This record gives sequence, C-alpha cells and structure tokens, in this order.
Amino acid sequence: MRSGELRDRFGRVATDLRISLTDLCSLRCTYCMPAEGLTWLSKSARLTDAEFVRVASVFVGLGVRSMRLTGGEPLVHPTLPDVIAGLAALDPRPEISLTTNGVTLAHHARALTDAGLDRINVSVDTLDRERFARLTRRDRLPDVLAGVAAAAAAGLAPVKINAVLVRDSNLEEAPRLLGWALREGYRLRFIEHMPLDADHTWSRADMVTAAEILDVMDAAGYRLAARGGRGHAPAEEFDVLDGPDRTEWAEPVGRLGVIASVTRPFCRECDRLRLTADGQLRTCLFARTETDLRGPLRAGATDDELADLLISAVSDKQAGHGIDDVTFVQPDRTMSAIGG
Ligand code: 5AD
Ligand code: SF4
Repeated sequence: MRSGELRDRFGRVATDLRISLTDLCSLRCTYCMPAEGLTWLSKSARLTDAEFVRVASVFVGLGVRSMRLTGGEPLVHPTLPDVIAGLAALDPRPEISLTTNGVTLAHHARALTDAGLDRINVSVDTLDRERFARLTRRDRLPDVLAGVAAAAAAGLAPVKINAVLVRDSNLEEAPRLLGWALREGYRLRFIEHMPLDADHTWSRADMVTAAEILDVMDAAGYRLAARGGRGHAPAEEFDVLDGPDRTEWAEPVGRLGVIASVTRPFCRECDRLRLTADGQLRTCLFARTETDLRGPLRAGATDDELADLLISAVSDKQAGHGIDDVTFVQPDRTMSAIGG
C-alpha cells in the first residue's frame, strides 16, 4: 500500500483527520442551526462504519496520527463504539478523540473508553439552565453536566470544554464558566464564532473576538499569562495565575485556551483534514470544493487509488480561510455538516 506523507504546496503536512460521523444533532444551537433543523443526509448517502474505517486506514498509511470523531453530534451515531474500536485496531494506532455536545454522554462514557477513546471535548456554552434552553433550543443542561462528570470518571480527564461566546447571550457568563472549569479540573477553551452557521447571521462586527474575551476575564479579576508556543494547536494557552475564586481551584495553576480562528488564524500551521459523513474530503473548513471518496470507494477503488486521491487533494489545500478578504464566500456546508 502507498505510504508517505500528505504534504501541500505550502509545505504543511496533514497528520490530523476529523471525521463527521453524522450530520444529525440532538441540539439546535442558535449560532449553528435553524430551529427546524436542516436537510439531513440519507442513510445510504452516509458512509457505513466499515467504510469510515477503510478510509481511515488509508489516511493512517499516509501519516495521519490523530483522529477526531465529530458530527453533527457523534453520539447520535448508534454504533459509535464500533467505529472507535475499528480505528483503535489500525496500525499504527491513531490517537482517538471525540467532540460531543454531551447530551447522552453520561450513558456512554464508559463504553467509549472501553472501545479505545483517548480524549474528549464537550461543548458547554452556559451553566444557566434557562439560557442553555434558549441557546440550544433544548432543556438538556443537567444531562450535559452529568455527561461531563461521567467522562472524567471514565478516565477521560482532563476533559476539555468548548464554549462559543455570543454577544447579548453568554458573553457575560465567561468568567463564571472559567470558575466552574477551574474548580472541577476541566480545561476550558473559548472559541471565536466562525461564519459557518446555517442562517448566515455571522458578522465580523458582532462576533466576540479573543481580545474582547481576554478583556472580560481581566475585568472579572483573572490574571492570565500566555504560555506561548501554540505549534499546530489552534488554542492559545494561558496559565491562570490568580482569580476571584482562587482558593477553590482543583489545581495550583489553572489553564484557559482561546481559539481565535478568525482574528488570529493558524492556517499556516494547519495539519488538519476533514471527512464528511457522506465521504467527501475537505482540506479546509472553508473549502469551496471537496474530493469525493465515497464514489470511488463504492466502485471498488484499491487502497493505492484512494491514497492517490488523498495525495492529490491535499496538494491543492488552500493557503487559508480568507475570512477578511473581500472575496470571501461562506461554504455551502454548515459547521454541523463539516464537523468541528
Ligand atoms: N463557529 C465556531 N464554533 C462553532 N461551533 C459550532 N458552530 C460554530 C461556529 N460557527 C462549535 C460548537 C462545538 C464545536 C464542535 O464547534 O459549539 O463546540
Ligand atoms: Fe449545537 Fe453542535 Fe448541534 Fe450545531 S452541531 S446544533 S453547535 S450541538
């Protein structure tokens, strides 16, 4: 089988694959989806578990070393543990992580670690039950919090928490979210909202920037020190040296991550690729083109033929997202159909 690496014309080497197992989701976050949901992929359009693992094996042969399962909501995929076990059986075994909204995580955390899951990110945008119900259009905050606790208990600590901050909604809650994460020993990361929402309501002027988030934390009394050396990781990491609730923290020094995808893009260091639930390879979140893997896969392509498709698609990876360019056009697929 073809081996080697997936290098683009800017010299970036792809080593991380995000697999969107399903575009379905159990929530309807206002910054992501309309209340009525979207037009979902049919079952036959979606790859089977065996197809996901087959494609993943070709990526592993080309140097991909970490895989993240996303959605939509990956726990809506009924055989998620089987996919994890399939990935864990690849050689070399990739590191396997999951991004979930946590709604049903409490029921599945143990099965996921038993199958081979290494790390987890849970999205928690607010700790206020009513606000959660408004923001996600579902009253599921207690389930999500139980899920986060279950993940830590199942051995997935330190659990990472993702929060997207939205002005006039949860921005004022940012310090409270950090206090909670520090007390519980979770790693919180604030994510800048990107123009990938179905309703196209995103605007550069309205989005909450990393600089603004840091100002809010400072005003709340948190003292942060940049750790530097972001590498391929999108999050800028800060040590939390002091804060209003210092005596209650689980660790002597806390951590906060800020993912400034829009205002401080990390495109030049990007080592990621994305596979959609219907088997399309996207080399960038903001790509306007995709490479069909499902067709060749179902037509009997060999591993080498699939590998050649990947090599050629990656060599054409675009330089960056270009959100600030006048020519920027939001991709047709939304975040929920690409995977986070
Ligand atoms: N911009 C940034 N983050 C988003 N997420 C969903 N939509 C967007 C967007 N448009 C987040 C979710 C979750 C992760 C998968 O991506 O809140 O934490
Ligand atoms: Fe919310 Fe994620 Fe579901 Fe979108 S895909 S509605 S952000 S939980």
